[in-house]
Amino acid sequence: MELLRFTTAGSVDDGKSTLIGRLLLDSKAILEDQWEAVERASRQRGDAYLDLALLTDGLRAEREQGITIDVAYRFFATARRKFIIADTPGHIQYTRNMVTGASTAELAIVLIDARHGVVTQSKRHGFLAALLQIPHVLVAVNKMDLVDFSQTAFQSIVAEYQAFASKLTVQDITYIPISALHGDNVVDKSVAMPWYDGPTLLHHLENVKTGSSRNLVDFRFPVQMAVRPHQNFRGFAGQVLSGTLTPGEEVVVLPSGKTSRVRTLTTLDGDLAEAAAGDAVVLTLEDEIDISRGDMIVRRNNLPQSASQFECILCWLSEKPLDVQGSYILQHTTRQLRAFVAELNYRIDVDTLHREAATTLQLNDIGRVRLTTTHPLFYDPYQINRATGSFILIDPFTNATVAAGMIRRRAQELDELVGSEPERSRSSNVVWESSALTRAMREERNRHKGGILWFTGLSGSGKSTVARLLERRLFAAGVQTFSLDGDNVRHGLNGDLGFSAADRKENIRRVAEVAKLALDHGHLVLCTFISPFAADRAFARSLTPAGRFLEIYVKCTLEVLKRRDPKGLYARALRGEISEFTGVSSPYEEPAAAELVVETDVCSTEEIVEAIWEELLRRGILSF
Ligand code: ADX
Repeated sequence: MELLRFTTAGSVDDGKSTLIGRLLLDSKAILEDQWEAVERASRQRGDAYLDLALLTDGLRAEREQGITIDVAYRFFATARRKFIIADTPGHIQYTRNMVTGASTAELAIVLIDARHGVVTQSKRHGFLAALLQIPHVLVAVNKMDLVDFSQTAFQSIVAEYQAFASKLTVQDITYIPISALHGDNVVDKSVAMPWYDGPTLLHHLENVKTGSSRNLVDFRFPVQMAVRPHQNFRGFAGQVLSGTLTPGEEVVVLPSGKTSRVRTLTTLDGDLAEAAAGDAVVLTLEDEIDISRGDMIVRRNNLPQSASQFECILCWLSEKPLDVQGSYILQHTTRQLRAFVAELNYRIDVDTLHREAATTLQLNDIGRVRLTTTHPLFYDPYQINRATGSFILIDPFTNATVAAGMIRRRAQELDELVGSEPERSRSSNVVWESSALTRAMREERNRHKGGILWFTGLSGSGKSTVARLLERRLFAAGVQTFSLDGDNVRHGLNGDLGFSAADRKENIRRVAEVAKLALDHGHLVLCTFISPFAADRAFARSLTPAGRFLEIYVKCTLEVLKRRDPKGLYARALRGEISEFTGVSSPYEEPAAAELVVETDVCSTEEIVEAIWEELLRRGILSF
């Protein structure tokens, strides 16, 4: 039988608990003993009606036991479908059940009190549903009995909400007038509202299309635990979050990057020919690999993204506001990491949907934030994978869930980890916008040609010193220069990169691309990077038209460099305080065919600048 997961949201006293109670009651899904307890309690309080809210509020006890994700799942079934409601008892944390139950929810009920009409909370919930990409929204206009079942009252609420929702990207919104207390249009059609000819709430829940929001492509398996029931069997237990996998397929284990093949996919009912999203399985591999809780197993050819800094939308769920200086525990799939706020970009005003500057996030605020984690996170953007694109933040002192987050966009690809070549382009559906102004037009006005001067050499060899003096001279002569320097670029554009061979490669790839853009704008670009690997320099050259790339090897013997050591880095590297330091613990591949070799331990900076100037004239890049 089909399953529909849904969440409920309403503001204080909109009747959320009553509605859920009514659904359970009228669909005959209530357990006998629960029912008697409600009757008894209602009688004691002298209520004319059964207080259906008591049914769900009974769950508060569960909540007080301190479960981390503060949401309870209610389960009921009718002849047509099974249902799971993500519900938070009580009225205070209205945003919470929506966001915490949302990674699997396919429908959200937004409750509006007919007497109060559309309030900020109703908009907030609609906005959240759009943000969370919940495919169906059901706006239940409740307490119709208190507005005399008036059609006009219902219609004006619908009109107001529609005007708001037209700005959102919700795929499907349905409006139903109900009275949860009396049961009108919940399970049975209302006799008091003959003007309404749409479905009842339960009918809609039973018939809405499901399954459209699942990711069936990207196999993601966070390991819950390693199991070894006997000597020859080592498996990894967990739940498939998305995608499918079959025995024999090649997989990668993250973060180690180790590869192997799937041997078996076992469930309680035996081995599977294919595991799919939602399956709880024990996975065994061909090779013995160290894997523990929090690791993620994925297909070799379908990797998630990896970053220790990423953009996200945070829904703040705690009375205690966001502390931008503080540190939080980030729970993502089966893994916990430390997280810090790198930047709070803005807060969204849910009434107007405008962005506004913010210094913190308060209870129920929604904001855009850049987070940093102590280790890389393996994720997919929420847009394509709700399970691996979402996380929660936990207060390390109180252990309470304080925020739910959705990851927005990629930072760095994973290719390097598993050693495949980075492709030059991974973005699809992007078309190069050519500028109406050509390089030739710009060069004509500049009265010089564009080009790239690529200074390579050991740290401290004098690349920057030479480039700085040269640039001053060029500037004085009216040349359009553009300068990219290793130490500077590594503060911003490439601040996320270290000095491993892979990071250096990426460092050079990015600056080469930037240099090319500047060249296309007619600039004479001065690049000063150690760029120790010939292949990386060759890549930079490959982007540049013939004759416009000058590789300048700034040469100096190591002995002299160690003596000069202007930044004290060689001494530190030799003491072992800096790892992978070029010339000490990491190689430098000398250029085999540089356009120019200049020796800073032989010539003065002025002499070298003069030599480069001559070369630029000779090549016709400058023509004075
Ligand atoms: S490269 O690897 O991409 O060619 P880049 O030119 O950007 O290097 O940066 C080199 C600068 O980073 C050096 O001048 C030095 O100040 C600093 N640095 C810090 N650690 C290292 C290291 N391990 N190896 C080389 N340079 C380092």
